[in-house]
Amino acid sequence: MNNEHNRRIYRFYAPLYDRFFKAVSDRPRRRAVQMLHLQPGERLLIPGIGTGLDLLYLPAHVSVTGVDFSLAMLEQARAKVNGRDVTLLEMDAQHLDLTDASFDAVLCTLSLSVIPDGRAAFGEAWRVLRPGGRIVILDKFLPESGELTWRRRALGRVVSALGTDPNRRLSDIIAGVPGLAIQQNEPSLFRGQYRLLRLEKRG
Ligand SMILES: C[S@@+](CC[C@H](N)C(=O)[O-])C[C@H]1O[C@@H](n2cnc3c(N)ncnc32)[C@H](O)[C@@H]1O
Repeated sequence: MNNEHNRRIYRFYAPLYDRFFKAVSDRPRRRAVQMLHLQPGERLLIPGIGTGLDLLYLPAHVSVTGVDFSLAMLEQARAKVNGRDVTLLEMDAQHLDLTDASFDAVLCTLSLSVIPDGRAAFGEAWRVLRPGGRIVILDKFLPESGELTWRRRALGRVVSALGTDPNRRLSDIIAGVPGLAIQQNEPSLFRGQYRLLRLEKRG
């Protein structure tokens, strides 16, 4: 997967995405927002915001910055802003043009498995998160104990061609990040193949 491949794929998905993913992701999105414990006036970053489905669940009292590499997806997100404090930026989540420690919270829904270098995207989210801030992740990961068999690799190649990589391990994405504490790690969709996590940046 690379940025241009993703851009082509998500241009195609943009008008269809909500029809397929809104209903199935309803409960985990509600839960993800609950896990963030957002306070009035807080600043929230959403890397890979896509069509902005998360915006439907967020309280109106937060200031949201959504970043995506696909203009077609961002256009769909724009239709959900509804006069709220939301800034949408066409930007690569692997190289955020945003100031260090400028966000109270980050929400990564279904993006760390899509952005070509999930580890770089996580590192950037971590950089712009203030000490004491938190990240909530909803995504699928290769189970830590699971072996990367040839079958799983082959499946991974096919699924990656469709725009998401099912063979990433969370531990590889967050390895070596200083001050990271996993506060919650819950099973979510598809019998726990998707996880919901809350991480805190200890300052
Ligand atoms: C599966 S969608 C998830 C969208 C949204 N977060 C959601 O939960 O519905 C993944 C999104 O990541 C975006 N993306 C892929 N590579 C990116 C990059 N390098 N920088 C920013 N966004 C990227 C895609 O354009 C797409 O909108």
